[in-house]
Amino acid sequence: MNQEKRIISASMLASDFSQSGNEAKAVAAAGSDWLHIDVMDGVFVPNITIGVPFVQAMKKSVSIPLDVHLMIVQPEKHIHAFAKTGADILTIHCENNPNIHYTLMEIRKLGVRPAVAINPGTPAILVEPILPFIDMVLVMTVNPGFGGQKFIPETLSKIRQIRQWSDERNLNLNIQVDGGINGETAGLCAEAGANVLVAGTAIFGYPEGYAAGIQALR
Ligand code: DX5
Ligand code: ZN
Repeated sequence: MNQEKRIISASMLASDFSQSGNEAKAVAAAGSDWLHIDVMDGVFVPNITIGVPFVQAMKKSVSIPLDVHLMIVQPEKHIHAFAKTGADILTIHCENNPNIHYTLMEIRKLGVRPAVAINPGTPAILVEPILPFIDMVLVMTVNPGFGGQKFIPETLSKIRQIRQWSDERNLNLNIQVDGGINGETAGLCAEAGANVLVAGTAIFGYPEGYAAGIQALR
């Protein structure tokens, strides 16, 4: 994977929430291509984070694309509200959505790019039927819910498989990875076929600052 093609999406989960607007501006100025926003409901994942008002605030703060990762049950009830915030990408999970194709089509109708996430314990084949209808697959490289976890290397084979499907069918999919991504694991994921890297700790916690953290991922 060509280095110039790597898209970096800084995860606000690792930012200082008392300074959210400034943190988003700082990370955009440091070179983050997208802003990753983790919405958690305490049901689909064991943690609760933020929702629509936070995404609205981010839209006012930065002009880079907002990459909104919905870790919530029944996302179809909320996609209209998130689309109105100006979110550019809406990622929903495949694990608990019996009508996922319908929900993805609704997201596209709302003018937002649809994406699907798969957890470490979910087989790649579950997203295979919906690949022609989406812009991106998010391969979770940790179990969703918390930042700062350790990368699970067994997820790499799913990245390879999905990249192969994308190439065979000329789908030109973005493949995103999220969880435990740093300078080292970014290389492994890119080699397997991922081109969008989400990172929280490796950017907001990078000792030499955000720009250096982003550079280390490229
Ligand atoms: C975890 C979230 C991630 C999280 C990643 O459920 O989806 O976006 O912020 O954090 P790091 O990069 O610290 O592993
Ligand atoms: Zn995320």
